[in-house]
Amino acid sequence: MTMGTRLQQQVAWISGAASGMGEGIARLFAREGAAVALVDVQTARGQAIAGEIRAAGGRAVFIECDVRQETSVRSSIEQTVREFGGLQTLVNCAGIVQVKQLHELDESDWDRLMDINVKSIFLSIKHGLAHLRKNPRSYVVNIGSVGSFISQGSTPAYIASKGAVLMLSKSIALDYAAEGLRCNCVCPGITDTPMLREHLNMTPDPEFTLRNRLRRVPMGVPLKPDDIAKAVLYLSCEDSAGITGTSLVIDGGYLAAAEWEHPGTTRFMEPL
Ligand SMILES: NC(=O)c1ccc[n+]([C@@H]2O[C@H](COP(=O)([O-])OP(=O)(O)OC[C@H]3O[C@@H](n4cnc5c(N)ncnc54)[C@H](O)[C@@H]3O)[C@@H](O)[C@H]2O)c1
Repeated sequence: MTMGTRLQQQVAWISGAASGMGEGIARLFAREGAAVALVDVQTARGQAIAGEIRAAGGRAVFIECDVRQETSVRSSIEQTVREFGGLQTLVNCAGIVQVKQLHELDESDWDRLMDINVKSIFLSIKHGLAHLRKNPRSYVVNIGSVGSFISQGSTPAYIASKGAVLMLSKSIALDYAAEGLRCNCVCPGITDTPMLREHLNMTPDPEFTLRNRLRRVPMGVPLKPDDIAKAVLYLSCEDSAGITGTSLVIDGGYLAAAEWEHPGTTRFMEPL
């Protein structure tokens, strides 16, 4: 692979790295010179991706970790530090979605989603901080959603969790700026990942559902995991020096669109 240098010397812990955006982030970070710890519950996929990164000349290790569990998160961070000699960046990308109305949710559904989408961020920073603060600059990027700003039907826990991710990112930015840490939130729109496909496959005609949803997106196409990874990379290096406590929305224009008619086709639908 062609190696860049934007993250040279950097060690990054990336949750949710066995699939979708997390996988894209791990691959891009490795191409830019970072040593990456791929943290996930999907062991076989995570190991395979880490193996591919190493085979291409990158530095990567897969660490099995359930981000809901404090002991699991702490030991994944310790293992990252043992493996690569430090820790400069945390990317909290692990997440799940549930499609149910509030009255259909069990307490255990609510707790599971909040633990994976929100508590995991608290745990990674709590246990990563001692290592992050050893660097003159360190970075935390949390993956929110357009759902950090606007709601959608039948996903109350998810929407609540993504609102929390945005505000938690701001709080962290304030409390640790004195230590050289910058914390930001990347908020994706419709992105073509296994999570999106699983969601679409619950509908009678997945391709129709996707086309229909994309009528609310000015660019008219789903985002690629790499589009999100590039934003995370930007916020994880000095290209974004000066940016903390904020959000970067990557949504093809979704949040800009209210009263408006989609033209049907756009040049973003054609290959470059
Ligand atoms: N795909 C979209 O359209 C979209 C839009 C906005 C935000 N997001 C957010 O982006 C993030 C990544 O989603 P994605 O679309 O790449 O989904 P994905 O399902 O492809 O990847 C999510 C990863 O998180 C891992 N994970 C789930 N529970 C875990 C746990 N307990 N411990 C460790 N890992 C766990 C999964 O195994 C999976 O590898 C999520 O936070 C999601 O909410 C996705």
